[in-house]
Amino acid sequence: MEKFEILGARELNGKIKINGAKNALLPIMTSTLLAPGNYLLNNVPDLKDTRTMAELLRRIGASVSFKNNQLLINTVNVSKPVAPYDLVKTMRASFYVLGPLLGRLGHAEVSLPGGCAWGPRPVDIHIEALKKLGVNISLEGGNIVAKGNPIGNNIKFKFPSVGATGNLMMASVLGKGQTILKNVALEPDIISLGDFLIKMGADIKGLGTSELVINGKDRLNPVDEFDIIPDRIEAGTFLIAGAMCGGSIEIENVNPDHISIVIDKLIESGVRVKTVKNSIIVNGNKKIKPVNVTTAPYPGFPTDLQAQWIAYMTIANGLSTVTDEIYYDRFTHVPELNRLGANITMNKNTATIIGVSNLKGAPVMSTDIRASASLILASLASIGKSKISRIYHIDRGYEKIENRLKKVGADITRS
Ligand code: UD1
Repeated sequence: MEKFEILGARELNGKIKINGAKNALLPIMTSTLLAPGNYLLNNVPDLKDTRTMAELLRRIGASVSFKNNQLLINTVNVSKPVAPYDLVKTMRASFYVLGPLLGRLGHAEVSLPGGCAWGPRPVDIHIEALKKLGVNISLEGGNIVAKGNPIGNNIKFKFPSVGATGNLMMASVLGKGQTILKNVALEPDIISLGDFLIKMGADIKGLGTSELVINGKDRLNPVDEFDIIPDRIEAGTFLIAGAMCGGSIEIENVNPDHISIVIDKLIESGVRVKTVKNSIIVNGNKKIKPVNVTTAPYPGFPTDLQAQWIAYMTIANGLSTVTDEIYYDRFTHVPELNRLGANITMNKNTATIIGVSNLKGAPVMSTDIRASASLILASLASIGKSKISRIYHIDRGYEKIENRLKKVGADITRS
């Protein structure tokens, strides 16, 4: 199994280009199932999850080719509306085929996603809402079997779930009549999915607000070409790397509006951050101030940057707390960070971090995408050598991270 070796405590300087956003790409890929035809997606990150989703679309009947960060998808043939367990268990975003397959065929069978490294991840909001659209849902052999063409209705989500908002938008755009979705997610990934669906001819009003009014269409059209938005989580991760390791890092091809809360928190921690159009420059500061964060739905602090922020706070000058209100058990990185010399204690979904003057390299193990990112950040800031095992997790969400970090001066090798 591959691992990273990192010799830490080196200043980072230079430019890093941000890739397309995984969490915008995956639902857009599944939405191509809604209308038969050819699609070209640009700025597609070369990730394990991109390839897993391409494989899932192929199994459903589409043809997909992926080269030079471009995806060509043809969805004329959609013959087997099934997302099998072997794919769903490696990537929960497979669940996003449910909505579009119901829209196109009125039939979908999707393996029920189980828990994951950070505890239970229910899909009850998706299921309840689909039932309200008249879809018949049963559980057979661990699979959700959904039948029926969606019929418009009023739905108020109990929580602005990103996944449920995406799935229900895709289920409704070909539904009969009007669907009103209330308390929807506002994440940029959802807005981008909405933009894509509107380009397909969908009638969606209220995009960017918490209420969407969707008038079902009889048919939609394929989209010739579409650019995937920059990945705000990748941007946030590299900004924190710059803040932790001193020097000056410029993040290019980013939308600063998408991470304004992270920029604010970084400034509060005492580093200098400058925004110029689509670039953000961070200048590290030897003395990091402790800054508390609590994760929340967008535009709040993202749960996907919680692990990286804890890594940052391990070397702050004082005590800070980090609370995850989205996923209460998402803290598998904490014991690993403590192996690097951090002083973190847990109480329910809150980590209390007492900053130490130095982290020290050690062997550690990654457990999920963002936990791996936090271990890389902490190792880059540690004195001495760290070995991070099970790095296949990081390849799910960050394209060739070691090459990009090397370019700005990190001593990191994959072996
Ligand atoms: C969440 C994050 C998303 C992130 C992704 C992967 C939020 C709001 N969402 O999206 O930004 O990219 O994790 O790290 O920050 N829930 C239910 N029932 C459901 C669906 C969700 O109870 O049917 C709960 C979840 O347990 C969680 C919350 O709602 O507490 C957010 O869920 P949701 O946004 O759907 O999660 P993801 O789509 O996984």
